[in-house]
Amino acid sequence: MAETMKGLKRTHRCAEVTKREIGSTVTLMGWVQKSRNKGGIIFVDLRDRSGIMQIIFEESDVKSEGFAKAEKLRSEFVIAVVGKVEARSGAVNENLSTGEIEIRATEIRILSEAQTPPFPIEEDSKTKEDIRLKYRYLDLRRPDIQRNLMLRSKVATTVRNFLAEEGFLEVETPMLIKSTPEGARDYLVPSRVHPGNFYALPQSPQLFKQLLMCSGYDRYFQIARCFRDEDLRADRQPEFTQIDMELSFVDIDDVIEVNERLLKKVFKEAIGVDVQLPIQRMTWQEAMDRFGSDKPDTRFGMELKDISDLVKGCGFGVFTSALENGGSVRGINANGQGSMPRKKIDALVNFAKEYGAKGLAYLSINEDGSYKSSFAKFMSEEELAAIVERMEGKPGDLLFFAADKNQVVWDVLGNLRLEIARNLDLLDKNQFNFLWVTEFPLLEWSEEQNRYVAMHHPFTMPMEEDLDKLDSAPGEVRAKAYDIVLNGTEIGGGSVRIFQNDIQAKMFEILGFTPEQSEERFGFLLNAFKYGVPPHAGLAYGFDRLVMLMTGADSIREVIAFPKVKDASCLMTNAPDVVDEKQLEELAIAISIDEKDEKTTLETE
Ligand code: AMO
Ligand code: AMP
Repeated sequence: MAETMKGLKRTHRCAEVTKREIGSTVTLMGWVQKSRNKGGIIFVDLRDRSGIMQIIFEESDVKSEGFAKAEKLRSEFVIAVVGKVEARSGAVNENLSTGEIEIRATEIRILSEAQTPPFPIEEDSKTKEDIRLKYRYLDLRRPDIQRNLMLRSKVATTVRNFLAEEGFLEVETPMLIKSTPEGARDYLVPSRVHPGNFYALPQSPQLFKQLLMCSGYDRYFQIARCFRDEDLRADRQPEFTQIDMELSFVDIDDVIEVNERLLKKVFKEAIGVDVQLPIQRMTWQEAMDRFGSDKPDTRFGMELKDISDLVKGCGFGVFTSALENGGSVRGINANGQGSMPRKKIDALVNFAKEYGAKGLAYLSINEDGSYKSSFAKFMSEEELAAIVERMEGKPGDLLFFAADKNQVVWDVLGNLRLEIARNLDLLDKNQFNFLWVTEFPLLEWSEEQNRYVAMHHPFTMPMEEDLDKLDSAPGEVRAKAYDIVLNGTEIGGGSVRIFQNDIQAKMFEILGFTPEQSEERFGFLLNAFKYGVPPHAGLAYGFDRLVMLMTGADSIREVIAFPKVKDASCLMTNAPDVVDEKQLEELAIAISIDEKDEKTTLETE
């Protein structure tokens, strides 16, 4: 029978005891990390979320009954220990914050025994992720995950305090809402009271925060859970958290200004990093042209260069036909990589093909100035020299080129640039490069749907300069939208909103909604706009992504207590799962699935 805590009160967490407490008596409670029996003396590492403390048991201090209990201790037993703080008798342990002291136990209670865990509770676990996630409650005991979640809490607290001081009100918006499919796929929740009808879980609080502005709340924020039924990746979860905000009577610069100060404060307080303000800004067009990406990683160079003008009359059909089809030819310079083995180059060519490249041309510059290249034979010396000059090529450099439609060229070279940087270990996790990307296109053509879709969302304001192109050239209209990018990850995005009914109606029309459809889906917003609406703008951070980058984790699963895996299931609880026939009946739901569609278990990434 396990003992109880009766009569004992914990005085400290393990790592909260310091040299100052030498000589005093403390009561600690926690988990046995490990226990070593050296004959007449037993050493136990006691762990809680603060860290580890060494406890010493000797029969003369704890009596034979206490010593017998100490002899029984195994990893993960939960115990309470009363003892005296002493300077370490043995060698000081520099790896522990409590390495100079130890506790000489005078009393021990075993509060709970433990089976041997399926994997060791230790830092930098080598255990496969699906096992860790199945036993997440054990995985969460590991110090690195505990540090991640403590940092997450610290960031949330700092954000709340900052925003409250800046006059933002924290308002909760509903989780059961109307489905307004535009963006990712909605998660649906069936209604029992209205059989055949469904709520959706919010993809973001977007419409509600705009309505709060209509209602005069002026500055709103919420640390809000969001749900998106989309394909998962290392930086995406089906449910994730946003730091969401909206402000009235503001324009882009106001939103950027307050958010720069927020980022500065959070990075300083949570991880001691100084963010230099103002944060660099770059238009979407410049980001694509220079980095082939709307979320450039600016920690390293290897920028894209356009060589279309230099090769339009050349003899290399791959290049000229891309140009004739309205595309471009661009390249990157992998400085100093001229001696990259053929095998590695081939691997990069294959990598490029995953991003839609039909091929990848390359040219390496030998130390004597001559070239080794997949296309030099189709070019004159002058053409090659001009290309090398444009690419700032020096002996020992390796140049890669892609020729295709602009979007393909950007995707290919933007990703190739990152892949080369990863291979060369150029990405320093302790460097934090922030960037605002602005002037996004308002619309994106969807081949699949054969219509324009909103690049950010349908409530984003076009740039005033481009308003007259809404009818004539909608594809060219730029938006008052901005993303905040950190080390090549989009950590947040937002926009100035449309607050005029005529522009909002026009936007819905361009997106292919009939007036009836817009009314049916977004009528409440259009109506709200009829009763006096302030100009407003906002932004939302991906909270999980932000914390992931702050901790240096490789996946947002490492900063979420109970994450889901790639197929959106929870390996610990086995959600989603079948439900009782009776529950379905109450909801008037009948299931029809083929055998082959039935749930399969996918591995994590
Ligand atoms: P957006 O769709 O850009 O904007 O989302 C804001 C930020 O949320 C993060 N994010 C995600 N994080 C984890 N898993 C996901 N599946 C996921 N999807 C998005 C990203 C992203 O930058 N309502 C607007 C904001 C606004 O206009 O104010 C919105 O939701 O870091
Ligand atoms: P090919 O004529 O297909 O043998 O290609 C000749 C060279 O051009 C090879 O090195 C190909 O990898 C490269 N190449 C093919 N298509 C492209 C493309 N779209 N962009 C850049 N290089 C290409």
